[in-house]
Amino acid sequence: MVIELERVAMSYGGSELFADISLKVQAGSFHFLTGPSGSGKTTFLRLCYGALLPTAGQVRLFGQDVRDLGRDGVAHVRRRVGVVHQDVQFLDHLSLADNVALPLTVSGRDTPDQMDNLDELLNWVGLRPRAAAFPAQLSGGERQRAALARAVIMSPEVVLADEPTGNIDWDMSQRLLTLLVELNRMGTTILVATHDMNLIRAAKSQVQARVLRISGRRLQLAGADL
Ligand SMILES: Nc1ncnc2c1ncn2[C@@H]1O[C@H](COP(=O)(O)OP(=O)(O)OP(=O)(O)O)[C@@H](O)[C@H]1O
Ligand SMILES: [Mg+2]
Repeated sequence: MVIELERVAMSYGGSELFADISLKVQAGSFHFLTGPSGSGKTTFLRLCYGALLPTAGQVRLFGQDVRDLGRDGVAHVRRRVGVVHQDVQFLDHLSLADNVALPLTVSGRDTPDQMDNLDELLNWVGLRPRAAAFPAQLSGGERQRAALARAVIMSPEVVLADEPTGNIDWDMSQRLLTLLVELNRMGTTILVATHDMNLIRAAKSQVQARVLRISGRRLQLAGADL
């Protein structure tokens, strides 16, 4: 099991965001996570890559309890999990290509081979012509695709995407979705937090996806009526 939550509760300070959440995410699966703004989707994803510890219950990543990971363990998990953050952050003074390559550079893996992969990756997300552009020169859709490219540059086994289609139009959302579906077909486990039900409907014709919803502080498996 890639990600496993057992009776997990989470609260920041006083108020409890959710409680008694159990979930098993199998390798190669595709999940959506929905729920109203403020229900805890981002928090949930953060639990799923070890950025947060649950206030109760157990989170196991690749079979290991996150409480037992330690610094090296956390670093190891981070290499196996690519994250597309809700508020995409790039370094303004670096080109798009350098921003995407940053995980390689900081881990000392910026070898010529890997740099070839970078080129391929930029091509895959349709951003090769924009490789030299700076973040301030990118459109919303270009930023979102660059964020996805950066999340997958280390060839993670799992991709967690937090509203990857926020603030972009429908055609671009579909394009992002197609990229995620392609990754999944190549074996990557995908978990996408989104409030966009149209996107989920569109995905259901392309991939077998489970839809999870945070509602009333619980995690529910959404019905087949979607
Ligand atoms: N570090 C933090 N400290 C305290 N409260 C927090 C922290 N992070 C999030 N919260 C609160 O927890 C709740 C859930 O936040 P979260 O970002 O997980 O929701 P979300 O479902 O992702 O919302 P959105 O759809 O707007 O992105 C919110 O009320 C938020 O204010
Ligand atoms: Mg969020």
